[in-house]
Amino acid sequence: MATKAKKNTKIKIEKNEEVLDEPIPLMALEEEGEAKIEELPGVGPATAEKLREAGFDNLLSLAVMAPGDLAEQAELGEAVAAKIISAAKRMANIGGFISGEALLERRRQVQKLHSKVQSIDDLLGGGFETQALVEVYGEFGSGKTQIGHQLAVNCTLPVEEGGLDGDVFYIDTEDTFRPERITQMARGYGLDPDKVLARIHVARAYNSDHQMLLAEEIKRMSKGLNVKMIIVDSLTSHFRAEYIGRGMLANRQQKLNRHLKDLKQLATVNNALVLVTNQVHSKPDAMWGDPTKPIGGHILAHASTFRLYLRKAKAGRRIARLVDSPNLPDGECVYQVTQEGLRD
Ligand code: GTP
Ligand code: MG
Repeated sequence: MATKAKKNTKIKIEKNEEVLDEPIPLMALEEEGEAKIEELPGVGPATAEKLREAGFDNLLSLAVMAPGDLAEQAELGEAVAAKIISAAKRMANIGGFISGEALLERRRQVQKLHSKVQSIDDLLGGGFETQALVEVYGEFGSGKTQIGHQLAVNCTLPVEEGGLDGDVFYIDTEDTFRPERITQMARGYGLDPDKVLARIHVARAYNSDHQMLLAEEIKRMSKGLNVKMIIVDSLTSHFRAEYIGRGMLANRQQKLNRHLKDLKQLATVNNALVLVTNQVHSKPDAMWGDPTKPIGGHILAHASTFRLYLRKAKAGRRIARLVDSPNLPDGECVYQVTQEGLRD
């Protein structure tokens, strides 16, 4: 894709982004001791195979589907799909409520990925938490992709050095992933760039469907790897370009919602950090407050655990603002993008 054409779609302003204020359902997480999909009444080996190929390898993933969607994705009749779903609902270990104690235990496993920029880490109460989805939003050139690259490098660092000693999956929708940039940043820490690059697994997403499939693919690809971070840069560009106009809005948000659910699941299952970027567009008619707002509207706000709003300041400085965090005060910090990476 020509870069010029891409820039044009970016600047275009859409007026009808809002509505569909529907919270993301929280994941039920306990899957141990659960029945296999073959144990569902009416599911033989062939159907099970179809379900697995479509990415449904446990009861919970079936229980949350709508019959029409399951029928389409697994190439089944709708009546069959409906039967499978209701059986999965009965047999799935939905769990629902867990004790505060168990919740605390899960929280204890949360790790923090350090940006190694003191002001950013302080703003985030020590770093980027695992089991969380972080949305980094800002205008064109505000530094979203730079944060993605830097955290990808940091993720490969040992835990004692602020990293997660983990592998990174990077879904690149705008063709802006640059291994050369990773090399520069790795050298900035005195690391062997090849070793860092070997742990960053990159895929280019050609459209929103492809992007969603790639996210599902991570589940299968991650065997034998210590997946600690998933980056989607940008989460919204394809959706925005493909679903234009008010008539498409509900459809777009529904798909985005499903995509986010998959991503959140990856975060919980792997005790990993999911970082998505989102470009904001100017809203010239806004009279008060910040004249920008992120694409994706309310659904994205509900799904992200942390939101960082980036903007450029004078003398090459950048400002990151923490917005709507559930357990940290809103605040701002200043940092710089240098050749070696992000610095105080
Ligand atoms: P879009 O994806 O277009 O929405 O922008 P973005 O928010 O992802 O911006 P990105 O992270 O690509 O930031 C680009 C900016 O980072 C550039 O304008 C530079 O200011 C800065 N930058 C990128 N590479 C370097 C570098 O090697 N050295 C320095 N000093 N700055 C860099
Ligand atoms: Mg970018």
